Amino acid sequence: MSTKATVEKLVSLCKRRGLVFQSSEIYGGIAGFWDYGPLGVELKNNIKQAWWRAVVQERDDVVGQDAAIVMNPTVWRASGHLDTFADPMVDCKECKKRFRADELVGAAPASAHGHEAAAKVTRCPECGGELTEPRMFNLMFKTYVGPVEDDASVAYLRPETAQGIFVNFANVLTATRRKLPLGIAQIGKAFRNEITPGNFIFRDREFDQMEIEYFVKPGTDEQWHQHWVEERYNWYLRLGMQKENVRVRQLDRDELAHYAKDTYEVEYLFPMGWSELEGIANRTDFDLRRHAEFSGRDLEYFDEETGEHIVPFVIEPSAGVDRLFMAFLIDAYDEEEVRGETRVILRLHKDLAPIKVAVLPLSRQEKLVPPAREVWAIVRKHWMSQYDDAQSIGRRYRRQDEVGTPLCVTIDFDTLEDQAVTIRERDSMEQVRVPIAGLVAALRERLEE
Ligand code: GAP
Repeated sequence: MSTKATVEKLVSLCKRRGLVFQSSEIYGGIAGFWDYGPLGVELKNNIKQAWWRAVVQERDDVVGQDAAIVMNPTVWRASGHLDTFADPMVDCKECKKRFRADELVGAAPASAHGHEAAAKVTRCPECGGELTEPRMFNLMFKTYVGPVEDDASVAYLRPETAQGIFVNFANVLTATRRKLPLGIAQIGKAFRNEITPGNFIFRDREFDQMEIEYFVKPGTDEQWHQHWVEERYNWYLRLGMQKENVRVRQLDRDELAHYAKDTYEVEYLFPMGWSELEGIANRTDFDLRRHAEFSGRDLEYFDEETGEHIVPFVIEPSAGVDRLFMAFLIDAYDEEEVRGETRVILRLHKDLAPIKVAVLPLSRQEKLVPPAREVWAIVRKHWMSQYDDAQSIGRRYRRQDEVGTPLCVTIDFDTLEDQAVTIRERDSMEQVRVPIAGLVAALRERLEE
């Protein structure tokens, strides 16, 4: 983590620069829900694209899909979520604050949902008042499908995208005529009625997940598990995360979810301490067996090599986009002294930066407008870019640094004579002059190679 980043600074930057807003803010907001602004949606899309490229596009053993959020409710009976996707909740009888019992100091280190707090805390950590007995609280949001609100029309907003993949396993296998190992990847919304949402966008009630269910032959699962742990850890480093801020931790047995034989977490050193970015679980054949049992459908795989019917094991790398968004921002945040002023800079990897190029005429002088607009027209065909002519050039560089724009292109009075512009690099602040005719090639060299 950058020692200069705090959650308060991040929240303020995100609001000021249009990255993240509190949902329905004009009505006082709603806890656990956030809106992504013009720059936020770019960064979020870039994270998703970088993931999709690494796990689908660049591999020959993973395909994509996009399942519906609302599914047949029996899915959640089969998956175990109706019975076990619950957290222990306690209330303070004095100050009325609500806590997750398993998160109170002194409680068991149970981060996976569905765990009972083994060691009980009886006093409120805020006011010392007496706490209620823990009550289990199911985290799934309930809704009704169709006009009648009765038990038969109850449905749930999915708490993980994973189940949409398990129920499509046979469809995808048949449609793609693939053999094991085969991964199915999906990005989409998930919903959890968290008891204590918080730490900005770290724990939300609505969030995006990026999940892969990687189906393998039983017996090869442990080897594939190691493969995915390495693969996913290295992805964060390739996208510029500082090594000292990312670690892999194997969960203890009492931390495992009900379906997992073994789980590793990729953790990030957030301002509030080491916390999970992504879980990489060995889900065994739990889900396919349960869905076969509840649906009555054959979800086995015929292994042509051995002539046997098998139920594949599953390795599941599962990451939350919003959490990664926060971690990438914290990691990139820096402050440095430049000519007696503090420069706030997001040292984001170029693939993640919301705006790749800012086009800046030196001034609003009439003569500079046509060439500056022409340059912008050339640039924006290739990259997400911004045109900014308000205030001094120094101020505009600072504004772009603060949102991580890797390159600025400045049009000045010499441009009118020599048909050249200046490229200014975010981190080094170095400037080079290039002819407009060679601008796209020069930017491409810096942004894509
Ligand atoms: N399918 C497995 C699964 O959902 P999980 O550990 O509960 O496992 C996976 O969630 C990832 O989803 C987490 O590592 C985290 O990045 C993200 N995530 C989970 N709950 C979240 C929440 N309430 N807010 C934001 N992200 C969350």
